[in-house]
Amino acid sequence: MTQATARAHSNIALIKYWGKRAGPGNLPAVGSISVTLDTLYTDTRVVFDPALAADRAQLDDAPADTTRLTPFLDLIRQRAGIDTRAAIVSHNNFPTGAGLASSASGFAALTLAATRAAGLDLDRRELSMLARQGSGSAARSIFGGLVEMHRGERDDGSDAYAEPILAPEDWPLDVVVAITDTASKKINSSIGMSNLDQRSDYYDAWVAHSESDLAGMREAIAARDFETLGALSEMSCLKLHGLMLSTRPGLIYWNPATVAAMHAVRDLRDAGTPVYFTIDAGPQVKALCPPSHSAEVARALAAVPGVLDTRRTGLGPAAYLLP
Ligand code: PMV
Repeated sequence: MTQATARAHSNIALIKYWGKRAGPGNLPAVGSISVTLDTLYTDTRVVFDPALAADRAQLDDAPADTTRLTPFLDLIRQRAGIDTRAAIVSHNNFPTGAGLASSASGFAALTLAATRAAGLDLDRRELSMLARQGSGSAARSIFGGLVEMHRGERDDGSDAYAEPILAPEDWPLDVVVAITDTASKKINSSIGMSNLDQRSDYYDAWVAHSESDLAGMREAIAARDFETLGALSEMSCLKLHGLMLSTRPGLIYWNPATVAAMHAVRDLRDAGTPVYFTIDAGPQVKALCPPSHSAEVARALAAVPGVLDTRRTGLGPAAYLLP
């Protein structure tokens, strides 16, 4: 038996990823830029056990489906030259599958733990490319701070990996998460973005404009320009949701409290607080602000009708092994 345990932090994209390009290995149609979050993470233990006849998984103390996990573990087994089945025990310290990027932290933690348990010692770029094959956003959770995921051009995906832009301490930023629903979403992002026939009429425009959005965000980060970072994040989020809404059938991830929280963020901003929102494939609202404003933002969001809870977090570290 060989085993390893890893922790990976969740991330949220400021410039969003949505859509796949042709080719094997889950290749993104667009690049993305994200922040890794300090207080939301997944711990995953992987044990390769010759006594097992099939892979087994447990998530937050309940048996979990291995349909997406076994093909992913097969990639690692193939690379390590082993055939042993694995037992996975994973725990999220936040609601699973509800738009808090549990697939990002989950697949990143699984990538690090499973490669180590299989006897592999891969560099971060290779880990990122492997994690991408579990979930596109997971490629970014291999790194901490501000992170860019490259779309890549090559058919084999060897240039589709994430890289760090800034370490967490290089530019302290806070994210206040307003939780408006803790149930798992009905259509997860992988399914939501994969069906070519159901694509929005706006899809080609989404892909065509992504490079300039990424370039603008890189410049804002280099200049530590929070207003531009925030404005571009809000724009990319709303553009993504326009794309989702215009998919056939339209994907509606918001609930009334999501919309109320978006207005609350804009009201705060109109009153002078530097704060911008972003939302992924779920109903939670993530407000970006300088750390000096996060207490005030959390108070305002907690008072929005329908907001169940708020969590404040700074920027978090890269994925790492636990003893
Ligand atoms: O790779 P997935 O299936 O976790 O998709 C991520 C999609 C969004 O969260 C909506 C955007 C993003 O870039 O994280």
